[in-house]
Amino acid sequence: MAIHIKNNVNWVGQRDWEIRDFHGTEYKTDKGTSYNSYLIQEEKTVLIDTVDSKFSLEFVQNLEQMIDLNDIDYIVVNHAEEDHSGAMTALMAKIPNTPIYCTKNAIDSIVGHHHHPEWNFHTIKTGDSLDIGNGKQLIFIEAPMLHWPDSMMTYLTGDAILFSNDAFGQHYCDERLFNDEVDQTELMEQCLRYYSNILTPFSSLVTAKINEVLSFNVPVDMIATSHGIVWRDNPIQIIEKYLEWANDYQEDRITLFYDSMSNNTRMMADAIAQGIHEVDSQVAVKVFNVSRHDKNEILANVFRSKAIMVGSSTMNNVMMPKIAGMLEEMTGLRFKNKSASAFGSFGWNGGAVDRIHSRMVDAGFQMTEGLKAKWKPDGDAIAKCRAHGRMVARQWALRDLSEDVVRPVIEKKPSVIQAVPVAKNSDDKPVDTGSCQICTVCQWVYDPAVGEINQGVEPGTPWEEVPDYFLCPDCGLGKDVFAVVQKDAAA
Ligand code: FEO
Repeated sequence: MAIHIKNNVNWVGQRDWEIRDFHGTEYKTDKGTSYNSYLIQEEKTVLIDTVDSKFSLEFVQNLEQMIDLNDIDYIVVNHAEEDHSGAMTALMAKIPNTPIYCTKNAIDSIVGHHHHPEWNFHTIKTGDSLDIGNGKQLIFIEAPMLHWPDSMMTYLTGDAILFSNDAFGQHYCDERLFNDEVDQTELMEQCLRYYSNILTPFSSLVTAKINEVLSFNVPVDMIATSHGIVWRDNPIQIIEKYLEWANDYQEDRITLFYDSMSNNTRMMADAIAQGIHEVDSQVAVKVFNVSRHDKNEILANVFRSKAIMVGSSTMNNVMMPKIAGMLEEMTGLRFKNKSASAFGSFGWNGGAVDRIHSRMVDAGFQMTEGLKAKWKPDGDAIAKCRAHGRMVARQWALRDLSEDVVRPVIEKKPSVIQAVPVAKNSDDKPVDTGSCQICTVCQWVYDPAVGEINQGVEPGTPWEEVPDYFLCPDCGLGKDVFAVVQKDAAA
């Protein structure tokens, strides 16, 4: 199958709807991907990149349906990673002497993967060109470490197409090939996910390379990436996005992620998030449990955030392993211009928070003091978590918060449940405040006539008016695990 791109250029790649893991299992491709290969048929016939090795057979068969493979004059390998050069062994078995144009580093990688040092390699450098007839040329641009040492881009004069390989691409699969045809929200989400999880460490190189390409002052009508869509509608938009993302990007957003052995650190995270929102109603606050959420989505949120908070229970006096893995990955991604703070619950030793703090200093975050809670947070501890949230919200604010309408803060309540009055009518009969609610996890019962004074819920408060941040006093879970129960059954 081929898709016409422009004039004598066709897409001859492969879609991969079912792939869910990339780079081992480190990148979740929840929208699939594509491996974009391009065939240029001017006086000379040129193939730009191939596809992943698992599609070698289909790729070569497809090409043979279109052309005699012996008509291919040149193969350009923009990047040697297996998702783009994987089909080279199958292809070169058919046309073994075809010239291959690539960087010096790519020869090392291609030979390392395919074990054919005898292939007809031609080394290129930035500015080298290849005449392909009909007045058109290919001009090569090395792009080392974007994102491998061998990476390069190829520019087709006349048609003004930049074959950018991984850069400006995204793991996204759609039968529609062009950027103006697909869902724009999905597309930009996948672009940001790709940049934040793969290209962040190389942001300074991204800026320098884009400025170098722009300095050539050549038109760019299309950017033909090697994953996902082809940018034909305003292709400059993705270049502008890359420049923005590469410039220590941040939004007014705070991301919390944690792992929690017994829900105690989770309770802290919820309360801190509530505290942040109490003083800053506009900042986006996102909370993730690393055991339950997609790691790449969490990292994309870290990328978008001005600050993050990392929580862990203390286990064997260290942090939980999934948190340690996240810190290692964030160290490698080399985020810049972000604040951070650690938190977590502990029993007899509280080593996790201190270790998170020092690891995040090493990873380049500007640290704010952390917060520890011993055992399961009681009402006082939850109030302290909220206060901590309010403190960091003020410290990290990007705007003047004095104009904000501050949400009412529930002040300190007794930490031991007191005998509480039941709401009554003037005739001294209990008010009918609706059904009781039972926690389906631990069976604790909320009686509207009694309320839950430790969380500021007054007697007589119907369930519908209990705040969303309410937590079961016994197991610490939220309102969503409660179900209606008859008062008689609850008694
Ligand atoms: Fe899409 Fe770096 O390979």
